[in-house]
Amino acid sequence: MSEKSLLIKHISQLVTPTGNSMRCGAQMQEVKKIHDAAVFIENDTIRFVGTTAEVEHSLAQAGIKAETCMDASGKCVLPGFIDSHTHFIFAGYRPDEFMMRLSGAAYLDIMKAGGGIAATVIPTREASFETLYELGKNRLSMMLAQGITTIEGKSGYGLDLDTELRQLSVMKSLDKNEAMDIVPTYLGAHAVPQEAESTQSYVDFMIEKVLPEVKCKDLAKFCDVFCEEGVFSAEESECLLTAAKEMGFDLKLHADEIHAIGGSEVAGKLHAASADHLLHITDSGIQALRDNNVIATLLPGTAFSLHAPFAPARKIIDAGCAVALASDFNPGSCFISSIPLTIALSTIYMQMSLEETITALTLNGAAALGIAEKTGSIEPGKQADLTVLSYDNVNFLVYHTAANIVDTVIKKGKIVYENNAPNA
Ligand code: NIG
Ligand code: FE
Repeated sequence: MSEKSLLIKHISQLVTPTGNSMRCGAQMQEVKKIHDAAVFIENDTIRFVGTTAEVEHSLAQAGIKAETCMDASGKCVLPGFIDSHTHFIFAGYRPDEFMMRLSGAAYLDIMKAGGGIAATVIPTREASFETLYELGKNRLSMMLAQGITTIEGKSGYGLDLDTELRQLSVMKSLDKNEAMDIVPTYLGAHAVPQEAESTQSYVDFMIEKVLPEVKCKDLAKFCDVFCEEGVFSAEESECLLTAAKEMGFDLKLHADEIHAIGGSEVAGKLHAASADHLLHITDSGIQALRDNNVIATLLPGTAFSLHAPFAPARKIIDAGCAVALASDFNPGSCFISSIPLTIALSTIYMQMSLEETITALTLNGAAALGIAEKTGSIEPGKQADLTVLSYDNVNFLVYHTAANIVDTVIKKGKIVYENNAPNA
């Protein structure tokens, strides 16, 4: 088999967290910065990282000559971003709901009146595999162009067996055919469908009928639940997630988004991989996450879009938790997939440093998906997932506020996106 190799050299600044697992509390600030750096990639794997002189020396010693060479002077290189919380497979849009919210309607009240998630369930149930595939593929291109190289994707807009399986199968095919790595999550517990007799009967249906089918077809790594007042209580969430865990799923929760009803505590008790949202997390919730190594995944786009208070990122990090940042891209509460906006919000409004933000969007995002040994940092042995910025310094990520400054994206060692627009 012929080896493909790529040497990226004279990188003005290479910025990366390091390690194979989540970075907690003060460790989130420890980001490595190398000037005049180089990365040597063989096939889909990073082999050498260091200054250009060091990497050239290592190559000479090993008698290796790079097949392709890329000069990255004037550019900054980061690990590919990891968006560890999205709902990107859906049909139909809800702009009217956004306008209602601007006029003062509350998200949960719209949901209670039959809108919200239920309004996306109708067109998603009607959409074919091909339609959902095409929509998903277009959304992946939009994400890739922002330097995102891995995403998580949730089901949850079918609620019945067939549509949930279809959403998950679409993600499996997209993962196979497209450049993006996609980690799938079963989120049948997103809302109680209209046809269900009771919340408990729907929980039983998921446990008895859907989860075994999802497992048997290997369609999801995680099981998630929207633990919220009027949706799934802490007890119902725990009942579903306990069964899912026994079947071998890893766990996630939408917790403390609008009301603190014990979601973070359930996440701690069941050792979930992450608890997400956390706008209203309590001190006991923070302690439950920290004591049980549950990643706190913050979704600033949702708080911004709902005009809600941001999650207390500073308090959560200072308590020693690992924080990941993600988009929550979905057709209702947050029709935003923007990494640049996420960075602007975390740094300007959530008192996170740029270094903490980078760790949260790379290594900790990977850890929230259980793949930190494979991706999330630029280190020998890791998958070659890199994002090249068109400026020479990482500070432009926030200084050039909310702008997409991605120049080139490398996924598994291959260039998958190039932007030739000149800098502002
Ligand atoms: O993470 N909060 C629950 N689920 C999504 C919103 C889904 C929707 O509004 O369609 C979220 O915010
Ligand atoms: Fe969500």
